[in-house]
Amino acid sequence: MTRKKLVGIAGLGMYVPKKVLTNRDLEKMVDTSDEWITTRTGIKERRLVQPGTPSSTLAAKAANKALESANLKPEEIELIIVATITPDMPFPSTSCFVQSKIGAKNAACFDIGAACSGFIYGLVTARHFIDSGMYKNALVIGVEVLTSVTDYTDRNTCVLFGDGAGAAVLGPVTSGGILSHYLGADGDLANLLYLPGGGSCNPASKDTLKNRLHYIKMSGSEVFKSAVRLMTDAATRAVCDANLGCKDISLLIPHQANIRIINSVRQRIGLPEDKVYLNVAKYGNVSAASTIIALCEAVKEKRIKKGDIVVLVAFGAGFTWGSIVLKW
Ligand code: UT7
Repeated sequence: MTRKKLVGIAGLGMYVPKKVLTNRDLEKMVDTSDEWITTRTGIKERRLVQPGTPSSTLAAKAANKALESANLKPEEIELIIVATITPDMPFPSTSCFVQSKIGAKNAACFDIGAACSGFIYGLVTARHFIDSGMYKNALVIGVEVLTSVTDYTDRNTCVLFGDGAGAAVLGPVTSGGILSHYLGADGDLANLLYLPGGGSCNPASKDTLKNRLHYIKMSGSEVFKSAVRLMTDAATRAVCDANLGCKDISLLIPHQANIRIINSVRQRIGLPEDKVYLNVAKYGNVSAASTIIALCEAVKEKRIKKGDIVVLVAFGAGFTWGSIVLKW
């Protein structure tokens, strides 16, 4: 399609809680070991909120930093999109709570539920609103308090997840910006990664509590295989759509779920290790917040310079997957 406007990132911000949960801490909670977690996932520690801290609190902290770096006042923001699977509550949307906390009273607000791909789905959505001329700018936030839905009696999942938030201000740019994107989904595979309790399917009841249905359920190895295949496919397709080849990628920023998944994707795409950004060891899997936190840290560490081709790619529950190619 012909683009009316170039859209790019005008500001970035992130926030992670201070409290750290290490692999050693988890050894005391379930039958696991630092050695197993490190070799099977690459995760060494993850951050967690004080119990009762909602996603909107983390999101607002990240959003304020992004606004500051974009040199925008909250009232100037026209659209807020929050990507999360751990909303403050089923309704109203977490984006409305964020709007109130940061004072962005002129913004339209909605949430996106695309799990770990949510931030990329959010960027793509915001791009179209700006490209079409409907809004001048948008604040896209990925946030999770996954510790609120993690079953700390289930060693298959509890070692993986953490809390955090990242935010990006999108707006028109004169060069570079978003070059291309690709989104995909397969609802036939929903039962491989899901949270069954508390929705209209299984409303909260004594039985849903007793059967621990309010926690994440995952068939790890099936998710693993699909993640490798579909993240490779998504990254390759978006790069092709930008009329580039994988050798043109300056930095790949993948969803940080498992270092073995990331390494397999890297090898299939044919990139050297130094062209892939990693922070899975520090934060574990932060779902919708994962790629945006990684982008924020990559920029802060000066891993990205002007003119670089940066590719974000993610995969998550749904299944959903997606990628976006940016020229910095
Ligand atoms: O963010 C959205 C996408 N999510 C992901 O991408 C996650 C994808 N999946 C994964 O990252 C991996 O599948 C896991 C890290 C979850 C699991 O790794 P795996 O190599 O697929 O292990 P597995 O599930 O096949 O389990 C291997 C063994 C099992 O023992 P047996 O049956 O072989 O005796 C598990 O019970 O490892 C055992 N195991 C553990 N042992 C120690 C599973 N979790 C643990 C644990 N500590 N925490």
